[in-house]
Amino acid sequence: MCGIIGCVSDKDCYGALYDGLKRLEYRGYDSAGIAVLGEKLSVFKKKGGVSNLSAFYARGGTGIGHTRWATHGAPSDANAHPHRAGKIALVHNGIVENYAALKAELEGEGERFSSETDSEVIAKLISRAYRKDLLSAVREGLSRAEGAYAVAVVAEDRPGELVAAKNKSPLVAGKGASGLFVCSDIPALAGTADFIARAEDGDFIRIADGRIDFFDKNLNPVCRDFTRPREELRALSVAGGGYFMRAEIGEIPRALEDTLSALKNADFAPCARALRSAERIFAVACGTAFHSALVFADVAEREAGVPVLCCTAGEFRYRPPVIGEGDVLVAVSQSGETADTLEAVRLAKSRGAYVVAVTNIGSSSIESLADFCIVMRAGAEIAVAATKSYNCQLLCLYYLAAQLLFFKRARLPEWFSALDRLPEAAQAAFSCFAEADALADRLKGAGAMYFLGRGTDLCTAKEGALKVKEIARVFAEGYPAGELKHGSLALVGEGFPVACISTCAALLKKSESALAEVKSRGGYCALFSQYPRALAESCADFKCLLPALPEALMPAVAVIPLQYFAYKMCIGRGFDPDKPRNLAKSVTVE
Ligand code: M6R
Repeated sequence: MCGIIGCVSDKDCYGALYDGLKRLEYRGYDSAGIAVLGEKLSVFKKKGGVSNLSAFYARGGTGIGHTRWATHGAPSDANAHPHRAGKIALVHNGIVENYAALKAELEGEGERFSSETDSEVIAKLISRAYRKDLLSAVREGLSRAEGAYAVAVVAEDRPGELVAAKNKSPLVAGKGASGLFVCSDIPALAGTADFIARAEDGDFIRIADGRIDFFDKNLNPVCRDFTRPREELRALSVAGGGYFMRAEIGEIPRALEDTLSALKNADFAPCARALRSAERIFAVACGTAFHSALVFADVAEREAGVPVLCCTAGEFRYRPPVIGEGDVLVAVSQSGETADTLEAVRLAKSRGAYVVAVTNIGSSSIESLADFCIVMRAGAEIAVAATKSYNCQLLCLYYLAAQLLFFKRARLPEWFSALDRLPEAAQAAFSCFAEADALADRLKGAGAMYFLGRGTDLCTAKEGALKVKEIARVFAEGYPAGELKHGSLALVGEGFPVACISTCAALLKKSESALAEVKSRGGYCALFSQYPRALAESCADFKCLLPALPEALMPAVAVIPLQYFAYKMCIGRGFDPDKPRNLAKSVTVE
């Protein structure tokens, strides 16, 4: 959600903060702010994007910055961070769940608030505890806060010092030529920091006297390892300008290639026992990652004959799930920081289940919680809409399903060797872009659309619909083709667009029947299939031939023209695909 950054440098830190916020902007872009501590503490904050801050400059080597995704209080100058209270200024990512009670208490004691945020409450608490010892004040102030937070705090009479703390929201420290940093995530520090260390829940970080120290919840010093950020997380700009989303779709073949070679070198032996004996598997994730988990559930259940229950992470937690010892939970998260997914992992672990995670970010929170972690090699994904990470998640999950079969039945699935052809097939799917472009042009004025599919094609349909909703702001629903006539067909009238993904030979005729139902009500039909005959015989108005792979693997390529279609719809409707309305890349609050 929000991005926070802090810097202590022997040079002016404004530029490093501004650049850092630019790199963090994918976490939220409702408003932004910077506080710089030089001869005095200067705070500048504005509704809107980070570039609004370029109107401001202050000299000083210590500072904090924030880019906001609003939770409490609308996007406004007043609700933007940093929040000042007495001598301190604070930036916060997370949600203070008991803020209303704390605020009422503080107001009763005469405090006046200038924002509607939960964050200002902790700024006040820290300020009231501050007596020249910033670290102790941050600890004391936060001791009353419930919920998730990563904060960075400076005090106007302590230039050269910064204190940060974390509970359930991500926080990393970094050392680079331009200074010492804290920041919400590793990719945003890549290129700036030569060494990074991830803070754990309950940690406090103090930057002072040219060093970074970590402390535990009782302020005892603790050691956190600094490592070099992975090379592939360094490139955070699009060559020649343009949109990250478009560039990231273009990187899919390379990302699959890199992920494939990482998987080939991975050692799955540590999870052999858990997979071999698993009688039930649970798969959890959110959003796009959930759609990849759905594919996994279908493929793993079919191949290994193990029941796989797939559930969005937010629902899983509150069911409550019947999970326990002997069960395996597969948790998928590009960022490795999604709050609901992490809580699902914690819950599964507390019940004794074995957790396998799939993520794009090594050293993320999910990696530290999981018993076994598969780190894909998609490279930094900046656009809020997930694209290449989805294809790579699928690849990792196919691999995992294959290992499951191998450990249980001592054989690999028939499609296993075809995984080598996935990067090439992804590249071949780019030849669908001209058609996807034309389709986007035709449908850019649509008010709503359906994406139909059956089996794993339904997962692709859901992902296609999510992309369209997310960036093109058109209502879209991924729907089981067979369910259409049980209610949803009522919306289909003259010109209503329906895209159908049909990659399973046994179901081609069924999908075609659904299209015929649409067509006879005047709807506009688009069909995506790797079977030329199915396309030739279809009543669809628009037809797109997909590259052919074994059917189990088709979701990883069939989605590519849909990702591109959504991108083109978004551009055609005049929106920024990298900054969809109301969204942020990393959803670190519940
Ligand atoms: O980082 P995660 O994979 O855990 O994120 C989960 C979702 O928030 C994410 O996939 C979201 O749905 C994407 N923005 C969709 O494009």
